[in-house]
Amino acid sequence: MEWKEAASVQRGENAARGTPTSASYLFRGPTAADARAVWELVADCRPLDPNSLYCNLLQCTHFAETCILAEQGGRIRGWVSAYRPPTDPQTLFIWQVAIPREARGCGLASSLIKELLQRDAVRGIRQLQATVTRDNKASWALFRSVADSLNAPLISQAHFDREQHFGGRHQSEYMLTIGPWHASAAESGHRSAGVNHITPRERKTDAL
Ligand SMILES: CC(C)(COP(=O)(O)OP(=O)(O)OC[C@H]1O[C@@H](n2cnc3c(N)ncnc32)[C@H](O)[C@@H]1OP(=O)(O)O)[C@@H](O)C(=O)NCCC(=O)NCCS
Repeated sequence: MEWKEAASVQRGENAARGTPTSASYLFRGPTAADARAVWELVADCRPLDPNSLYCNLLQCTHFAETCILAEQGGRIRGWVSAYRPPTDPQTLFIWQVAIPREARGCGLASSLIKELLQRDAVRGIRQLQATVTRDNKASWALFRSVADSLNAPLISQAHFDREQHFGGRHQSEYMLTIGPWHASAAESGHRSAGVNHITPRERKTDAL
């Protein structure tokens, strides 16, 4: 798939060689050793549902190839968990996106998703999906921005219902679908899941 490069998001050659600036982030796949920090980050990022630590351990191990984190100064500053549903492997389902309050509005979440889409582990996907509650403005804005960057359509439809599925304990979740898109030359540029340093753009919005 093609991704319209945001001018302010850089993947510097120097950074890729391992000399990040103080403002840059190390993007990498997670390991079991990251699960506790991921768990803490998700717990701090309402309205995300807090996970069990065991759930994050599984994400950081079984699903490590389709999850990605941003590290800065040894701290985890961003997290995207995702997987290819076994019944629909041409979809990448984005499970949770968590950016700490002080790091929001700088393009970090969209950069992480963009980086994930370059991984060999997602080769062949034709669409992105995620569920979002109606009032999560930041999340809707993130996925609209991702759809724009991919030049792909975005549709939403009711998915998990407040009463029917959550027994009134949780707001209804809407399924967002970005795509489908067709294979393109860009796919031949897939890289292995590795380590990259990316400097997201300057802060431009107030975080929620
Ligand atoms: C949603 C969240 C992940 C966004 O992270 P972020 O790093 O600030 O997002 P980005 O900077 O990459 O922004 C992506 C787009 O969304 C827009 N956006 C981000 N936060 C916004 C907000 N609060 N209000 C309006 N637009 C917003 C940005 O302007 C950008 O749009 P653009 O590319 O057209 O300029 C972050 O706010 C967060 O962790 N929230 C709590 C947890 C959550 O709700 N997660 C999402 C559930 S899947």
